[in-house]
Amino acid sequence: MKINRKIGLLIIGLTALSAAIIYKVYFNPEFLEKQEITPLTKPWEFAIPNQKTPAGLVNLSAENCGACHTEYYAEWKTSTHAHAWSDMQFQAELKKESSPFMCINCHIPLQNQQEFIVKGLINGDIYRPVKEKNPHFDKSLQQEAITCATCHVRDGFVIGSKGNTQAPHPVKKDPEFLSESLCISCHNANAVLTPTLACTFQTGDEWKAGPFYGKKNCISCHMPETHRELVAGYGEKLGHFHGFPGSGIPKFDTVKANALQGLSFSESKIPASLGLGKKLNYTLSLKNEFAGHRLPTGDPERFYLIRIKLLNEAGNVVSEKNYRIGEQWEWYPEAKKISDNNLNPGETRNFEFSWPTKNPGKYTLQAEVTKHRLSQESADYNKLGKNYPLFISVFKKEYPVWVLI
Ligand code: HEC
Ligand code: HEC
Ligand code: HEC
Ligand code: HEC
Ligand code: HEC
Repeated sequence: MKINRKIGLLIIGLTALSAAIIYKVYFNPEFLEKQEITPLTKPWEFAIPNQKTPAGLVNLSAENCGACHTEYYAEWKTSTHAHAWSDMQFQAELKKESSPFMCINCHIPLQNQQEFIVKGLINGDIYRPVKEKNPHFDKSLQQEAITCATCHVRDGFVIGSKGNTQAPHPVKKDPEFLSESLCISCHNANAVLTPTLACTFQTGDEWKAGPFYGKKNCISCHMPETHRELVAGYGEKLGHFHGFPGSGIPKFDTVKANALQGLSFSESKIPASLGLGKKLNYTLSLKNEFAGHRLPTGDPERFYLIRIKLLNEAGNVVSEKNYRIGEQWEWYPEAKKISDNNLNPGETRNFEFSWPTKNPGKYTLQAEVTKHRLSQESADYNKLGKNYPLFISVFKKEYPVWVLI
């Protein structure tokens, strides 16, 4: 009797155990898989190794650099670099299962800003990084995203490009390091990570293939020269503006006015009046005159809209013509670029509007060009709310036109 009970218990135990194994293997096939840790290989898989604070400084934070370099700090604060971590769209995308670990390596690139050190990948799978707690993790430095130390601190030195200053911290002069290649290390990535995830930032390649190569670079256009004190009381020197102006599409209310204008606009003449039966013709030309790369560049979600419309006296649209400049992608089942009509550096493109007049009266011709960070659908999908700025207007004109009997 007793023996039977023991056998019964044993059978129940074994059944439960095999059920647990079957469950584990079925829902978690890696359980049986032979696991190998493959080393990281691609540049964007690596963080910049943990940095120590240079002698004479309290810590690595931009806030601390700003105690002396007041203007630099104030300018940098308004740049999108300072918001590359807190950005709502970035945070929304980071939370998705489809975002692998290396997303953070250009947005919070210092290892000190990352909670974990990634040692390798299980069987080369970018969704299974082997993580170790980072003893030097600094949460407030993380908030500063692309901070001063990202570009300026290595191996206990502040990297500078001048070398003739009286800094209270060790300085290593390395203009080569502080060149456009630093910018390109993040602003140029061309990789298909998984079938549905592609990383395409080719601003560096676009610049190299364009007419500004050898004449102007990322720094000469995006960090205009200044003549002022690097630190109050040390005398004026040649320096560089640190607001990193770009598209000018703000992130928050605080990131304003950091804009460069890449396009120039020209228009055909518009008659103040024309006879019934004649055609009202209008051409708006956009030239990528001032950007050293294609426009838009970088994130494939960016685009321009060109809208030309005619309103009657009551304010109703009688005719309109819309154009788009940008890339179009299909993300499922496989990331694939469908079209790309971005403007090359130096390229001019014409946008036509034509309307055969039908009724006499007073009309208004409106032309507007807007530049978009991302579409309304994408903003809704990422739940960015109503206050996240999606676009700015870069050109707007209105003309009265009389159609006479
Ligand atoms: C205690 C004040 C102080 C702090 C804090 C400080 N600096 Fe400086 N830094 C200076 C002074 C002073 C100079 C020299 C200015 C001059 O001679 O015109 C200088 C020079 C520099 C230079 C130019 C060096 C060269 O030769 O090109 C860079 C770059 C620089 N600092 C970056 C930083 C960064 C980045 C931080 C924060 C990690 C920082 N500094 C923190 C005071 C400070
Ligand atoms: C560590 C990576 C990294 C480095 C190095 C870097 N950037 Fe950036 N940059 C970024 C990221 C990420 C953003 C986007 C931030 C955002 O929108 O939240 C950005 C944004 C920008 C923008 C603003 C784009 C806009 O929205 O208008 C400009 C301009 C820019 N960078 C220029 C430069 C220049 C010039 C350099 C070199 C001096 C440089 N960057 C170096 C990562 C980097
Ligand atoms: C000849 C000047 C020039 C050079 C060289 C240049 N840029 Fe720009 N860049 C611009 C202008 C102007 C804009 C603003 C375009 C606009 O929105 O009207 C811009 C915009 C940008 C933007 C914002 C994205 C966008 O579509 O507006 C980024 C990012 C950027 N540049 C990065 C870089 C990097 C990285 C380099 C170096 C590889 C570089 N730029 C070289 C002039 C330049
Ligand atoms: C995205 C990279 C980047 C970031 C972030 C950055 N800098 Fe710089 N900084 C540069 C480059 C590049 C130069 C050198 C430009 C040259 O000489 O051509 C420079 C130059 C300087 C200089 C020397 C004088 C000058 O203006 O050329 C000082 C001082 C300086 N930076 C301080 C700071 C401080 C303080 C911060 C943070 C508030 C900061 N930088 C953030 C890229 C950066
Ligand atoms: C190789 C460096 C690099 C990596 C890796 C990277 N980014 Fe970025 N990211 C950038 C740069 C540079 C910009 C600004 C470029 C621009 O818009 O011209 C940017 C901008 C963004 C933006 C703002 C879009 C905008 O219009 O400014 C989001 C959101 C973003 N990245 C999400 C991600 C996600 C999600 C991943 C991982 C799948 C990722 N990033 C990985 C460099 C990188």
